[in-house]
Amino acid sequence: MAKHTVVTMPGDGIGNQVLPEAIRLLKAVQFDAEYIHADIGWDCWCREGNALPDRTVELLAKHKLGLFGAITSKPKKQADAELRPELRGKGYSYFSPIVTMRQRFHLDTCIRPCISFPGNPLNFIRKKPDGGFEEPLVNVVVFRQNTEGLYAGVEWTNPPELVRAALATHSKFKPFAGIAGPDLAISVRIITRNAARKICRGAFEWAKKYGYKSVTICEKPNVLRETSGMMEEEAKNVAREFPGIALWSTNIDAQTMWLTKNPEEYGVVVASNLFGDVISDAFAGLVGGLGFAASGNIGDEVAVFEPTHGSAPKYAELDPPIVNPIAMFLSAVMMLEHVGEIEKAGRIRQAISAVVKQGTVRTYDMMRLPGGPKAIAQGAASTVQMTDAVIAEFERQAGSHGLDRELVAAGNSRQR
Ligand code: NAI
Ligand code: MG
Repeated sequence: MAKHTVVTMPGDGIGNQVLPEAIRLLKAVQFDAEYIHADIGWDCWCREGNALPDRTVELLAKHKLGLFGAITSKPKKQADAELRPELRGKGYSYFSPIVTMRQRFHLDTCIRPCISFPGNPLNFIRKKPDGGFEEPLVNVVVFRQNTEGLYAGVEWTNPPELVRAALATHSKFKPFAGIAGPDLAISVRIITRNAARKICRGAFEWAKKYGYKSVTICEKPNVLRETSGMMEEEAKNVAREFPGIALWSTNIDAQTMWLTKNPEEYGVVVASNLFGDVISDAFAGLVGGLGFAASGNIGDEVAVFEPTHGSAPKYAELDPPIVNPIAMFLSAVMMLEHVGEIEKAGRIRQAISAVVKQGTVRTYDMMRLPGGPKAIAQGAASTVQMTDAVIAEFERQAGSHGLDRELVAAGNSRQR
């Protein structure tokens, strides 16, 4: 029996291109695991009226470890229109399966590392006062609270009378009291003290474990006095337990501006759900963008790892696939670290780092080419070729042993 069981959820679009390549890489490095496929995403919605089928939930509940590709989601009207005719008008409504999964398994900690690979042509560069350029190396890990805040899902257009009456008890609601229901949309930002403390503690523990000198709480407590105020208060409380690590506090708006000024100065950054989503995408943009942005959704029992990019439908049908699998690989690396396979994780990261630095194999995004069928003819590597390059580099670094040659050959024989 394999040591680990991984529930693999490719989902939609390019999720089906990058996830199988991550499995090929994991097999090549001899990660001792069994992989069980599970359905998720838009097709499930259209066919079954549920983007996260119960059978997938059961598999995750049983095996507790998931690797996820990407899903497609579409606006409400389109969702209703694409639902199988027999299911229409029967009360089915579309919910994001990722958000549902995070809430169902209480995956309350989202970790998004944004770390530059030296030599990545997509790295942020900065002009120096003397007219030259410098390339600050960013090493930031964003901790995002994953289940609450503005993504808690408590929202209405045309809120019920009881809600309106409750809101009317707040003096600041006066200007909105006369607005007609259908013209009034409300999303509630909920922060609980326990969750705020937990995400802040997670951030500090990570900083301690990996030697970061600071944790930055990135909120907006001067305006969102209650919710951001509670996040900041808990960050301060937790900081007292970690005397060697500085606590910095920044406002989300100012932080996004400062990013391009001195991104190398930040270490661990912690934020509530929406702000964490924003700031992690912003940092990811400095270190290669969507082709490099990995994440882990961690709960007390279940953990699911995924690239932060979506299903990129415009590239989903291209043959050969052209998208960059590195974000997916780095998500798999996070999974390895999570289950304690530190050595394998480190070696894959090293192999990716070497391939990026060598610069001979680059997907279209790394070459700043327009994506599309012409990218390969213009010299871009395909998704499969990038995987091959990482496996080959792993093999080179490991010497001739420790690699399953059949798997490398299987990849080589696939159409590029
Ligand atoms: P997207 O992330 O799918 O793609 C945006 C653009 O980024 C692509 O057109 C492509 O140019 C680039 N890109 C994305 N992944 C790449 C990769 N691995 N390598 C190279 N380039 C890459 O976001 P978009 O277009 O806003 O959304 C498409 C669909 O994905 C929508 O249905 C959306 O709801 C969904 N989505 C799902 C997410 C998830 O599954 N976690 C996250 C974001 C969007
Ligand atoms: Mg996002």
